[in-house]
Amino acid sequence: MSLELTKKQQKMYDGEFGEGVQIAMEILVALGKIYNARSMIPITSVQVAGVSYKTIGDAGLEFIKEMRDKGAKVRVPAFLNPAGMDREQWEKMGVPAHFARKQMEIFDIYESMGINPTYTCTPYLIGIRPKIGEHVAWAESSAVSFANSVLGARTNREGGPSALAAAICGITPNYGLHLDENRIANKVVIIDESIKLEDRADYGLLGLKIGKLAKGSYPAFENLPKEHDEDKLKYLGAAMAASGSVPLFFARGITPEYCVSEDAERIEIGKSELEELKERISTDLIVDLISTGCPHASIKEIEEIAEMLNNGKRLKTKLWICCARQIKNMADEKGYTKIIEDAGGRIVADTCMVVSPIEQMGFKKTAVNSGKATKYLPTMCKQEIAFDRLGKLIENCTEEKNHGD
Ligand code: F3S
Repeated sequence: MSLELTKKQQKMYDGEFGEGVQIAMEILVALGKIYNARSMIPITSVQVAGVSYKTIGDAGLEFIKEMRDKGAKVRVPAFLNPAGMDREQWEKMGVPAHFARKQMEIFDIYESMGINPTYTCTPYLIGIRPKIGEHVAWAESSAVSFANSVLGARTNREGGPSALAAAICGITPNYGLHLDENRIANKVVIIDESIKLEDRADYGLLGLKIGKLAKGSYPAFENLPKEHDEDKLKYLGAAMAASGSVPLFFARGITPEYCVSEDAERIEIGKSELEELKERISTDLIVDLISTGCPHASIKEIEEIAEMLNNGKRLKTKLWICCARQIKNMADEKGYTKIIEDAGGRIVADTCMVVSPIEQMGFKKTAVNSGKATKYLPTMCKQEIAFDRLGKLIENCTEEKNHGD
């Protein structure tokens, strides 16, 4: 089986569209050959990852600089994953100046290639919502899960270079989750009735458990609550992607094109299994940061936090709510930012607790309500972690304001 290119694609590969496009095509062709793709497929959008200086380092910076210098520009709508810092608040937040300089260079390079500076892992919360069956090339694992499983779009999980290459060429190799035959569940999850999935953190916990059991396969949830709360689904998918590299799950009544193999293995999840897991990852740690918005927070989540803090109480611990810049702008307009800042918290845009250099900013112990964050904070940020529902975390870290505050 060989990979066939159209005449235009062949010209791109041969360098007729410039050196930047040629390098991008070489990446895509190499990928296509590895996965036995027979052709390339046009895509309608690309989420480019590899934006934080913390994750790409100098080697990644050199690569994107080279692409820019060779004239690479994106051909399809493309947008960026979170960076290593909030562009407006980085100094106040204590981001080291040498890190900020490198990060700003990355901002400039990507933007000069025509990539939309969204800096978010929840593009679907700011209007980027591909339709059922639409082919896209997204890179961040929780966004990939959401696009495939909730929106019914089709994407493999792209790496940094392959996503950038796809954006430059407007195509991706046609394999994996772009193909009908691969979009089928091979494990069926039955959740015991005694399990109450009420809070986003509950979905993150369930996701951690199922991701581990699914081990890269595609699980189907037979009896997930059918309420269409996208925030809960994003916490579920993000945790499964983190613990088991799951890029697609099916939820009956939610996922378009719900499809389960006849010989799918059955996984039954009982209450005690989730309780044991929670016990293992939750601690009574006195933390120096509470961080939420992994994946990036919606305006609804921020509204709820503002309600929790609009009670004359003050946070004893720093609180970061990570979100897209557009969502922060909405929170500013609605007055939520002021309430949160008055209580001692901060809405952080363009970045998140994992891809910012929090370990260089004096944080050692972080509390989260995200299953995904419990996987990455210890390894990527050297954090000890506490995990719980956000309401509980905030309640434990607030005190009455002194008169005159
Ligand atoms: Fe998004 Fe950062 Fe979590 S990129 S999914 S908030 S680790």
